[in-house]
Amino acid sequence: MKERILVIGAAGQIGTALLDALIEAYSRDAVHAADIRPIEYGGPSYRMDITVPASVTEVFRKVRPTQVYHLAAILSASGEKDIHKTWAVNVDGYRHVLFHCRDFEVKRVFYPSTIAVFGPTTPKENTPQDTPLLPQTVYGMSKVSGEMWSQYMYAKFGLDVRSLRYPGVIGWRTIPSGGTTDYAVEMFYAAIEGKTYRCFLDRDTYLPMMYMPDAIKATLQLMEASTEKITLHYGYNISGTNFAPKDLEASIREFIPDFRVEYRPDYRQEIASTWVRSIDDSVARRDWGWKPEYDLRRMTEDMLMHLQKKFNSSIPEPIE
Ligand code: NAD
Ligand code: SER
Repeated sequence: MKERILVIGAAGQIGTALLDALIEAYSRDAVHAADIRPIEYGGPSYRMDITVPASVTEVFRKVRPTQVYHLAAILSASGEKDIHKTWAVNVDGYRHVLFHCRDFEVKRVFYPSTIAVFGPTTPKENTPQDTPLLPQTVYGMSKVSGEMWSQYMYAKFGLDVRSLRYPGVIGWRTIPSGGTTDYAVEMFYAAIEGKTYRCFLDRDTYLPMMYMPDAIKATLQLMEASTEKITLHYGYNISGTNFAPKDLEASIREFIPDFRVEYRPDYRQEIASTWVRSIDDSVARRDWGWKPEYDLRRMTEDMLMHLQKKFNSSIPEPIE
């Protein structure tokens, strides 16, 4: 059967990178992009507001998707500024999409969960797959609900929803906004532009992070895995690389020795402090063979190389 893949929330940080990967794996014609915002995309694209069921129906009728990647959400820091809208988009919007997937007989659905499902009662080091989830943000609460809806739709209706708990994702294509882990991308951009970076997290805040190519690889690997390998339909823990702002600063300074960071923690520090420091992803490794490729140094080198091209700047060789 010819695949028709619908990416919802395609104009965002992960969506932009995922579109390219899906086009490479399938074809431009097979990949349909939807978002509430305008999308810069050469393939078929649609305006869709997931909080409005009729808007979701209109796009599903046009595309008749075989696979759906549901990325649309309001992230952690923005989420605290309008908690009702966050719930409406992240939970009610997702529910609308899920029931459309059931009714339009979509074969596979991807749902991105997050390390924000964890909270102060979760073990902070090597966080297990099954562990207390008592998040302190509405974003985190909404993603716990999303995980439960994912599992429910599988158990009740056989809808094949697959999900990852992404760490903080770092990519060079766009500057993200609204997230607590966005500091890392902002730090790279400041470094390449020759600016001092004012970091909104404390220098010692360790968090699980992941470079975009690993996040995309995990997403496609999970979606392509054969049915019998998938043992859970809520979020799989996946780990990339764990670091604190001070480690990223030092890693960038190996390439740009003059780079400086000032630490001015704000309200986002309170959010980050409730999250965990490292993740046990042994279930994902066992079930569908997950293995990350990028550590901090390799990611830094690749990020700077891409940003250098983007800004047409030059970066000295790293100091050995
Ligand atoms: P993003 O904010 O860059 O993109 C989200 C997209 O959703 C935006 O383009 C936005 O316009 C769209 N959207 C918002 N409301 C909508 C609505 N009502 N209808 C349709 N579209 C709407 O976020 P991202 O970083 O690309 O994240 C994608 C997904 O991955 C999200 O679900 C997020 O929770 C999850 N996630 C991201 C990270 C990360 O570090 N980026 C980490 C963990 C999980
Ligand atoms: N990286 C996301 C955020 O900071 C977590 O899902 O909101």
